[in-house]
Amino acid sequence: TTRRFLKTGAALAVALTLAACGKKEEAAPAAAASAADAPPARVYVVGTDAAYAPFESQNEKGEIVGFDIDVVSAVAQKAGIQVKFVNTPWEGMFNTVAQGDRDLLVSAITITDERKQTMDFSAPYFDAQQLIAVKEDSKVAKFEDLKTLKVGVQTGTTGDEVVTKLIGKESTAIKRFESTPLALKELESGGVDAVVADNGVVIHYVANNAGSKFKTVSDTSFTPEQYGIVVKKGNAELLEKINKGLADIKADGTYDKIYTSWFGAAPAAAAASK
Ligand code: ARG
Repeated sequence: TTRRFLKTGAALAVALTLAACGKKEEAAPAAAASAADAPPARVYVVGTDAAYAPFESQNEKGEIVGFDIDVVSAVAQKAGIQVKFVNTPWEGMFNTVAQGDRDLLVSAITITDERKQTMDFSAPYFDAQQLIAVKEDSKVAKFEDLKTLKVGVQTGTTGDEVVTKLIGKESTAIKRFESTPLALKELESGGVDAVVADNGVVIHYVANNAGSKFKTVSDTSFTPEQYGIVVKKGNAELLEKINKGLADIKADGTYDKIYTSWFGAAPAAAAASK
């Protein structure tokens, strides 16, 4: 019945086209006629701060790649929409979606109650937690130990939030950077004693920059975080497409494949079922 419906629909489209043209022509093949008449497909612009490997980064060719990119691309495919990724600085990123410069944001963005006031989030697609990076010879053993040290964070991230809560907003001991790699570079040069950022990014950086001589320190006081894809507040139509696509890629194994390709192992059962 679907086929028949499509055929009927196509025939109708051809008939309408011919009627509109007012010409008597031989009916063109249905597919060609409808493709030519269709309005250009809408391309949804996805903002991402591509300095956050393995979630989003730029490769040697300048292409934006990463786990988040693969997830949203797969979601878009399921949802039948086209997307284009645009490198967007983290600071001010949330405004770009409010103002309509970006339709979607994917940037390892933690779903928080505060952010929910000004934007809408998809269902969670990734579990995360803060993690501390220090030099190999550091005595830091827990988060509390950072209270009297200089700490680097990326401005406005959840890492910034937890460190600000620990050390105090006015403290000059917190050094804020526009990207997490910049904060980690500062750790390497000794400008800060520690960096607090998302575990996936810290682990990836430490593993890929052996020369930096970093180690990681975890702390059970960090609350679990979950990443979500952002749409403009109230854009229920797009949000529904995204959530449907997300559910589809989780159900059919696509999500697990993407996860394994970036993290080397299948997601924990608990995370996958979310
Ligand atoms: N998950 C953290 C947050 O939402 C950090 C995200 C930073 N993402 C990025 N692409 N720089 O605050």
